[in-house]
Amino acid sequence: MTGLRRALLDWYDAHARTLPWRAPPGSTEAIDPYRVWLSEVMLQQTTTVHAAPYFEAFTRRWPTVSDLAAADDADVMSAWAGLGYYARARNLLACARAVAREHGGVFPDTEEGLRALPGLGPYTAAAVAAIAFGRATNVVDGNVERVMSRLFVVETPLPAARPELRSLAASLVADDRPGDWAQALMDLGATVCRPRSPDCPRCPVSGWCAGLASEAPERFPVKAAKAAKPERTGVVWVALDATGRVGLVRRPDKGLLGGMLGLPTAGWGGGEDAPPGSGPWRDAGSVAHVFTHFSLTLEVQVGRDGGDLIWTEAEAARAVLPTVFRKALERALV
Ligand code: ADE
Repeated sequence: MTGLRRALLDWYDAHARTLPWRAPPGSTEAIDPYRVWLSEVMLQQTTTVHAAPYFEAFTRRWPTVSDLAAADDADVMSAWAGLGYYARARNLLACARAVAREHGGVFPDTEEGLRALPGLGPYTAAAVAAIAFGRATNVVDGNVERVMSRLFVVETPLPAARPELRSLAASLVADDRPGDWAQALMDLGATVCRPRSPDCPRCPVSGWCAGLASEAPERFPVKAAKAAKPERTGVVWVALDATGRVGLVRRPDKGLLGGMLGLPTAGWGGGEDAPPGSGPWRDAGSVAHVFTHFSLTLEVQVGRDGGDLIWTEAEAARAVLPTVFRKALERALV
């Protein structure tokens, strides 16, 4: 498989995406593990294009892991708004604080050492060890699983195929340029070996690909039939005052969007609020939002009477609210 490795690394040298957290291929300059770790946590839930401005904003505001460790929870949570899945932001802070307090602000430089940090999972530990510290770890994300399933025509459906895909990926890992290897596989998966329309004519490893030889590479990875997402419904209240401010609540720490500012809501299992004040409320239609584990439709009620709320300029609220509430606010303001 050295031919395949050579071909993919050569391709990466010529075609690596330029990304704000990334050293150019083959670079010998020291790579900052804080930047690698932060980017990997962000990229677990969104695309490089969406993550890039958040990455720039975080590193400008908190240039080192110790700066992030010293930040107020609420500031980090608002800066995270729009990246989704707030448990990750809480884990991010817990990890930064452990690095600052227990490791003197210096990230451990092995996969095992990284894995022992709070909230740092196997994928992130392997990715940071490879990219920041040149360790020959096996970095397997969804892109890499797809590439392996096609190269080796793995017929076992996901998720059962995971151990097999992981060991196929491990068979290609070597001591030569581990960080570039991991990122070359990610770039190949994101730009060439794409989920629906693989661009096989541009693929540097097509000569080794059993999926291409099978003539239907897009059939892989085979997936088990998916259960439909549960649908939930509820009500959201947008209380506006005469000066254009909107009434917010601080959500409980535990549960979905925990600790974030939000609009008062009820009825969807996301934390229950009573209608703020006595109304009257005007029906402004509904907004839909898809979370990882369910789809939500919220009926939007708009009123002037708000009761005991955190009164916030609409513009400021727009900037800090999680997406589902921003959608409701936009609906109320049209
Ligand atoms: N996805 C996750 N980590 C990445 C990285 N380092 N480069 C590009 N895409 C990624």
